[in-house]
Amino acid sequence: MPSADRFVHIVEVSPRDGLQNEKVIVSTADKVALVDKLSAAGFGTIEVTSFVSPKAVPQMADAAEVMAGITRRAGVRYAVLTPNARGLDGALAARADAVCVFGAASESFSQRNINCSIDESLERFRPVVAAARAAGVFVRGTVSCALGCPYEGEVSVDAVLRVARALLAMGVDELSIADTIGVGTPERTHAVFAAVLGLTEASRVNGHFHDTYQRALVNLEACLALGVRRFDASAAGLGGCPFAPGATGNVATESVLARLSALGYETGIDADAVRAAGEWIRGRLRA
Ligand code: HMG
Ligand code: MG
Repeated sequence: MPSADRFVHIVEVSPRDGLQNEKVIVSTADKVALVDKLSAAGFGTIEVTSFVSPKAVPQMADAAEVMAGITRRAGVRYAVLTPNARGLDGALAARADAVCVFGAASESFSQRNINCSIDESLERFRPVVAAARAAGVFVRGTVSCALGCPYEGEVSVDAVLRVARALLAMGVDELSIADTIGVGTPERTHAVFAAVLGLTEASRVNGHFHDTYQRALVNLEACLALGVRRFDASAAGLGGCPFAPGATGNVATESVLARLSALGYETGIDADAVRAAGEWIRGRLRA
């Protein structure tokens, strides 16, 4: 067993962050097959889908069917996005192990993504987090645009901390700090994550990096140096947000695994199985 300090928990987000941004709407059967392939690769957590408005994100319209179709592996946490109480109802009915409320550090992105202000979103999340916790479900709170906003440009550390504090006060189990459009630098990443680590312990902090300018890996390393050991990644580098123009995919899981291994970290994940799953879904997107 690796020491806790050398173990990195990777959350595989390609079925959600990846497929939500693809023009091709992948069939439900292929989504199920992707999740099952990823389950077999050894991930501790897989972000499967989103219980959101099908008008806003048509790619996730079959959330309930995908959750019903997957083969659950013992020890894998199947996570879904839930922007509101209706989303949580869907998630609980689908027996999700974890849910995610997703806010933003920038007002413009909050409006475009979830159609409300930051304050309104926090009010909306509070009962969702309470009900999810009461149901014994793990809760993640995401802060999008933590390193920059597609509409407003720079985002202050204070703006990130305000949302992070509110999410922690609601009782989220984990904070995910997201570079939605991949504009972060290692220096800025250090500053933002160091500030967040002033609010809570590293074991509750996750990094989510889009790789628009190929800085996701160095930003991830800046987090490792601060003691963060939880990161999202996406097989084949799929990803993006329909409400974040210009943002490309998440950092590729294949690249993260290779880099972590070179640095002497353990993940418990079968890199060959991830590569095969990534190539398979890329093929389905071309089909
Ligand atoms: P709204 O229009 O303010 O909400 O949308 P509403 O309550 O007025 O409902 C509007 C319509 O949506 C109604 O349907 C509702 O029934 C339906 P209509 O009467 O028009 O037919 N609706 C729902 N349907 C299914 N499930 C639900 C649900 N809620 C309402 N849960 C809302 C607000 C949040 C619902 C909407 O804006 C939405 O769904 N947005 C999607 C946001 C999203 O999924 N974004 C991408 C994921 S976030 C991301 O990628 C960032 C991340 O990766 C981190 C990072 O990189 O930064 C996580
Ligand atoms: Mg994202």
